[in-house]
Amino acid sequence: DYLKIFSPATIANVSCGFDSLGLAVDEIGDEMTFVKTPQKGVEITNITGAELTYDVDKNAASAVVKKMLLDAKADFGIQLTMHKGYFPGSGLGSSAASSAGAAFGANQLLGKPYSNLELTKFAMFGEEVACRSQIADNVAAAIYGGFVLIRSYQPLEVVKLPVPNELRLVAIHPQIEVRTEDARNVLPKEIALKDAVTQWANVGGLISGLYSNNYELISNSLKDVIVEPHRKKLIPFFDEVKSAAIKAGALGAGISGSGPTIFALCKGDEITEQVYNAIEKSYRNKNIDFEMYTSKVN
Ligand code: HSE
Repeated sequence: DYLKIFSPATIANVSCGFDSLGLAVDEIGDEMTFVKTPQKGVEITNITGAELTYDVDKNAASAVVKKMLLDAKADFGIQLTMHKGYFPGSGLGSSAASSAGAAFGANQLLGKPYSNLELTKFAMFGEEVACRSQIADNVAAAIYGGFVLIRSYQPLEVVKLPVPNELRLVAIHPQIEVRTEDARNVLPKEIALKDAVTQWANVGGLISGLYSNNYELISNSLKDVIVEPHRKKLIPFFDEVKSAAIKAGALGAGISGSGPTIFALCKGDEITEQVYNAIEKSYRNKNIDFEMYTSKVN
């Protein structure tokens, strides 16, 4: 009746797949605990690592747990604690880690009545509470793990994709905040057909590369001609970081979700280290604090 879980950070979009691709980061994330209580209802007893509300209906995690307990007509309640392992507003799916972790944890204590797809829908409700939009790419990646494709939103359809063995990632989080809402507002409402063609061909190429372990195809496909040109203006030294990463051997680099975190995908540990060092060097002496991570995709 006690459960402790790790809920991973996630990278949404992965360059070409705006709102439709996501991946889970192995090394960064939140820790959450769940305790069954005889009295019904949800209570957050402790939050560390970030300042978040204890208001059950406004905190994404507790809002998700509450909805699930009601839906399942549970005759017990849940007390939860959250330890945030990284900062909200980073573009690494912080609210998604809370929402997805909450959905996963509550499902365990309920005796696992819900499928991953149903858990994704509950977690999307948490995203709605946290950021007023029901985007699935971060939460689905956190729940399914690895790489996922949101093939459709209505009805929701999630496809779990394979992850080539040697795929690694490097991420740099400049310590500024970009609000998802602002990063969505800079996007155009309409796009040119030729850009759409480039983009969907790259999504197909990336997915084909994941299935066939074809790193060259993955590399060629990690491009974003639609969203990145607008959003990169919100991220200091984006072009410098990206070109340093690619020069050091990264397969590709782009904006993690709505930013400001920049990610690079790499093949193997040796290149990953070189890319890490190159990115670190490109941000040194810029008068902006930053944190860096390397991880497997898992
Ligand atoms: N796909 C969403 C976006 C993710 O890029 O706006 C938000 O983190």
